[in-house]
Amino acid sequence: MILTTGGTGYIGSHTVVELQNAGFDVLIADDLSNSKQEVVDRIEQISGKRPFFEKVDLKNKEKTFELFQKYPNIEAVIHFAASKAVGESVENPLKYYENNIGSLVNVLQAMQEYDVASIVFSSSCTVYGQPEILPVTEQTKRKAAESPYGNTKMISEDILKDHSVSDKSFKIIALRYFNPIGAHPSGLIGELPNGIPNNLVPFVTQTAYGLRTTLSVFGNDYDTPDGSCIRDYINVVDLAEAHVVAIKRLLENKNKSNFEYFNIGTGQGVSVLEIVRTFEKVSNTKLNYQIVGRRAGDIEKIWAETSFANTELGWKAKKTLNETLLSAWNWEQKYRASLTE
Ligand code: UFG
Repeated sequence: MILTTGGTGYIGSHTVVELQNAGFDVLIADDLSNSKQEVVDRIEQISGKRPFFEKVDLKNKEKTFELFQKYPNIEAVIHFAASKAVGESVENPLKYYENNIGSLVNVLQAMQEYDVASIVFSSSCTVYGQPEILPVTEQTKRKAAESPYGNTKMISEDILKDHSVSDKSFKIIALRYFNPIGAHPSGLIGELPNGIPNNLVPFVTQTAYGLRTTLSVFGNDYDTPDGSCIRDYINVVDLAEAHVVAIKRLLENKNKSNFEYFNIGTGQGVSVLEIVRTFEKVSNTKLNYQIVGRRAGDIEKIWAETSFANTELGWKAKKTLNETLLSAWNWEQKYRASLTE
């Protein structure tokens, strides 16, 4: 059984589906602070199998240990559970350090206590900051984080690395996600931000649906071909599959060291304006957008060198940007329609 913390969240829920499709039993532990329990029903609808579910606050050490005691057949963990809003982390850094660092430490201690050795961790390309040379490889030096959220990912990687040195029985893979977007092709699960979306694609789909009047494009004076920022947008189902591959690698002892990390992106840089244009094309809608000033803290451009993940992990992004943006649009429409049923 694979324990997925944060398994009802955006990336977690897609990964639970792929794990179950690959034949794994899955236990979700989530405090539902930023997701809904009905996601469990939707996962069951998609995969024909209901994952186990426990509402647990992993900041609580006792409850975390109880979880491992209750499920003695946990063989590996995927630790998604974390707060992820960059702006909020600047306003309330202690919440981020408590949630993101506290829960990781509790999970690692519980794993140690209950002899669970394998863990896959959700890291982020945020650890690279603005790199001088693109694309970024796993050898690219990490940079000081721009936000407390980013810092929690840096610190978490450091904790995992230190732990892998001290406890050689542990097997750890950190996946450095680039920008996850899109939704499951069924339209039953997807990204569900609270309130006004911070991220580009949910803002785009909500604007197209009429929930927002205007998309603000943050800056067109960057040193990029069209002046808008460039990111590496990775389909969430492709990303979910990377977790399945990583888990198998650990469980089959195919890892080369007991702390490994991989870039998980497409290898393609795409600008904000390209996202807007591609979305308009695939959705056959006209997006109301305006160019506004730069957003504080934004990186100008970043995309991944993915050859290490391709060759070493045997994983590659498969979906096109067209189908990914269409999946996000289908999800938005289907979800909104379900609210009025
Ligand atoms: N953008 C807009 N308008 C919006 C929202 C975003 O123009 O309404 C632009 C941003 O300026 C950026 C691009 O779209 O150029 C992508 O922005 P997102 O907020 O979707 O993603 P980020 O790259 O800023 O954030 C991602 C992850 C964070 C992580 C961060 C670190 O979502 O979790 O990378 O770099 F912290």
